[in-house]
Amino acid sequence: MASTDRLDQIENEALAALSAADSAVALQTWQGTYFGTKRSKGALDEAMSALGGLSKEERPAFGKRANEVKQVLTAALDARAQQVKEVELEASISAGAIDVTLPGVPPTRGRLHPSTLNLRRVKNIFARMGFEVYRSPEIETDEHNFGLLNMPDEHPARDMWDTFYLDQPGLVLRTHTSPGQIRSMRELGADGTQPVRVILPGMVYRYEQVTARSEMQFNQVEGIVVGRNITLADLKGVFVEFAKHMYGGKTQLRFRASYFPFTEPSVEIDVYWGTATERDRMITKGTGWLEIAGAGMIHPTVLRNGGYDPEQWSGFAFGMGPERAAMRLLGINDIRYFWQNDLRFLEQF
Ligand code: DAH
Repeated sequence: MASTDRLDQIENEALAALSAADSAVALQTWQGTYFGTKRSKGALDEAMSALGGLSKEERPAFGKRANEVKQVLTAALDARAQQVKEVELEASISAGAIDVTLPGVPPTRGRLHPSTLNLRRVKNIFARMGFEVYRSPEIETDEHNFGLLNMPDEHPARDMWDTFYLDQPGLVLRTHTSPGQIRSMRELGADGTQPVRVILPGMVYRYEQVTARSEMQFNQVEGIVVGRNITLADLKGVFVEFAKHMYGGKTQLRFRASYFPFTEPSVEIDVYWGTATERDRMITKGTGWLEIAGAGMIHPTVLRNGGYDPEQWSGFAFGMGPERAAMRLLGINDIRYFWQNDLRFLEQF
């Protein structure tokens, strides 16, 4: 066997093995096999050990050939390493790629609270009748919440509302939106010279037992109309119109004589609910009717407190519970659902 045959053999074998090596790990193994590692000799080193046994004449040709093989294999390794790198990159990209044909995962969207949706519904109905929205504060003075509404200090009617008093004397969490009557008359009435037609939506607070029909925090929508010839018939007309839009004309309304210190005469307005189940009777206190508003003709004292001359001006006012009204519309038989933040309830709207 010619002395360089073993080198040719190694070259052929190595090139074949190299084209089969298809990963960085396989290339490293290949390098160890032919070029050796720190700990073991490679095939080329082994072949070089034959040098010592060669004649003086044979040695230069063997050495030259050995260098050639080294160079060929080193260049081949570099080229192959580059290819393998590209293939591996390609594979990792396609493994992590997005399959645009898969169905998407819908993001969970926020939504409006049923109470907010309902307030908007109520506001829209009144807006069509020409009412504007007037904002008035949730922290009120005792004077606005009671005194100016014809309930001076020690007036027994104050007990109609169980009140949250603030640490600061003279301030309360409003128990109803009615104090906004005084504020809107004073601001919009321009010293009793201009008519007023607004609604006042917002939260009210009562230190009361929580039941299926009463919460201690809920919305009210106050309404007030002041003009030259306003009568109880106007109040009735507005409420009948409201019910027509709220309930699609199918729900019966009832006006029941009542008492409020700030109206004379006073009424309460009920919607028909029914008495079929135990729950119906509980919600309606056995009557089949659910109260949704208090209302009446504004008391002369209150008109005067708003800056008007009660000889010249008259008006009606109402305070509606929009959650109560919505219970009838949506068939919700427990008012506590509104503020419990139970998604099973909230997601239905
Ligand atoms: N403020 C009363 C309440 O919360 C409801 C009410 C009754 C409002 C008569 C009015 C009214 O404007 O005229 O119980």
